[in-house]
Amino acid sequence: MTEKKDRGGFYITTPIYYVNDVPHIGHAYTTIACDALSRWHRTMGGRTRFLTGTDEHGQKIEQAAQKRGMTPIELCDEVVVNIQKLWPLLEVSNDDFIRTTEERHTKVVQYFFKTLLDKGDIYKGNYEGWYCLPCETYFPDAQVGDDKMCPDCGRALTKMSEESYFFRLSNYEEKLTAHYEKHPDAIMPKARYNEVMSFIRGGLQDLSVSRTTLKWGIPVPGDDKHVVYVWLDALINYISALGYPKPGDLWEEYWPDARHMVGKDIIRFHAVIWPAILMAMDLNPPVRVFAHGWWTVEGDKMSKSKGNVVDPFEMTELYGADAFRYFLLREVPFGNDGDFSELGMVHRINSDLANDLGNLLNRTLQMIEKYRGGRLPGDDCLERIKEIDRSVALMAERVIVQMDGEMEEFAVDSALKTLWTLISAGNKYIDETEPWKLGKIGKDNPDEPDGRLDAVLRTLWEILRLSAILLSPFMPKTAVRIWTQLGLNPGAFETGSSAVCLRDWKWGHCPSAVDVKKGEVLFPRIDIPKWKEEKALRDAAKRAGAKALD
Ligand code: MSP
Repeated sequence: MTEKKDRGGFYITTPIYYVNDVPHIGHAYTTIACDALSRWHRTMGGRTRFLTGTDEHGQKIEQAAQKRGMTPIELCDEVVVNIQKLWPLLEVSNDDFIRTTEERHTKVVQYFFKTLLDKGDIYKGNYEGWYCLPCETYFPDAQVGDDKMCPDCGRALTKMSEESYFFRLSNYEEKLTAHYEKHPDAIMPKARYNEVMSFIRGGLQDLSVSRTTLKWGIPVPGDDKHVVYVWLDALINYISALGYPKPGDLWEEYWPDARHMVGKDIIRFHAVIWPAILMAMDLNPPVRVFAHGWWTVEGDKMSKSKGNVVDPFEMTELYGADAFRYFLLREVPFGNDGDFSELGMVHRINSDLANDLGNLLNRTLQMIEKYRGGRLPGDDCLERIKEIDRSVALMAERVIVQMDGEMEEFAVDSALKTLWTLISAGNKYIDETEPWKLGKIGKDNPDEPDGRLDAVLRTLWEILRLSAILLSPFMPKTAVRIWTQLGLNPGAFETGSSAVCLRDWKWGHCPSAVDVKKGEVLFPRIDIPKWKEEKALRDAAKRAGAKALD
């Protein structure tokens, strides 16, 4: 891992978000996870492309706009700004942002539709069935109970009949099964793979892919009484953003390495409908669809009516993007559901960030300042290294390899846990080597060569240097702060470039003559009783605000 190798391309996408809602923790979660994965890949020397965007057509937007007396595009233009403002605040480093109302997208959707129509994979028919307005989905009779409630969201269904175009999804049952049998990693985690496989084996029905009941959508080419079904429109964003169907660098370089990150509720759209459509177009399905779990809030389902929606803008303002990112990525085994508790986040900030990480940096820099006037000892001291120093160096090398494997599996939380084994080993190393004693001995006792303290300080500095690199995909700002305090040039962490050069991953790779620059404490400890008082005041202000709106 310490040698540079070509890792190929890495194309990662978030779902594109509806613009009829304010961004919440769910949107932040997916996007931050994709950001960490994409930054990891880039930091390891790979070529990456990270796409996010907005899903702007469909009935929900049309209705939301109507309610507010606006045209749909006016609403989209207003709300998209909110979403686009959030990503830089959360240190999200997407390479592109696609809106489904952009021409670069709409023309590809029409191209898809026409091609499939010409090939006979889309045909015109008549649809009658139970329709869920919020989910914009028809349900076959077999899936609808006596209460006529939506099997997905539980809301009331409406009986509807309309002329419709259909995609021959039923033709792809065997092809999809064969594909997933051959590529068991194409759907992760395993439980979702099994869920999708049994859904496919249960039989696939042709899918209605047009609507006549709304105007706000992409017109079906040659029949503009119909607009393209919003999910077909939306899924195509993943390739219209790469410039498909025009042959070009992005398309050729990244589509063969496509990975979609989605929430568990939309796995079927991505792992059944989307790959079937791609197969119909003679295109490769994505390499992987990963479905993460859902967040509840303090044990409750998150909803506007309960007033418990976690606002990422507020969290970032209160705790900073990095602490919020760390908590989301570390707290829950990636793929499982999780529960968000602000107090839980505060505890993690105190224990993992202020205590473990912050202390390691502080103690190390303090000692370099106290004993060596802030100048990092030169590498000649490495002749005096002992077994204990060698074993942390080896551990650091192992941690890099292990984290890389975990990130490859999207086990983001495990990768962070692994990193913390190194940080804890650093703190333990201080306790065991007792540098303050060496400092004294070095001065007073000519038998104890000064070089021993040099070797210890340098080992600690190295642990922190590698930790900063390993941390940078998860907590980009903190990594830069550590790097700067270590006396290194923070330019190494610029996003967009190939970031930290891989030779920097090597233990002992350090410039000569480094002066550390102890700065502000990374994460000041949060006083819990005081925090509780402030939180109670905040909650009261929110309740009063919500009442005033009623
Ligand atoms: N527009 C579609 C996606 C089209 S992709 C071609 C959509 N948009 S959404 O805005 O409703 O949801 C986006 C994502 O947010 C989904 O992946 C969903 O799982 C996720 N989340 C919504 N609430 C969530 C939580 N409470 N917790 C975690 N993620 C959740 O669906």
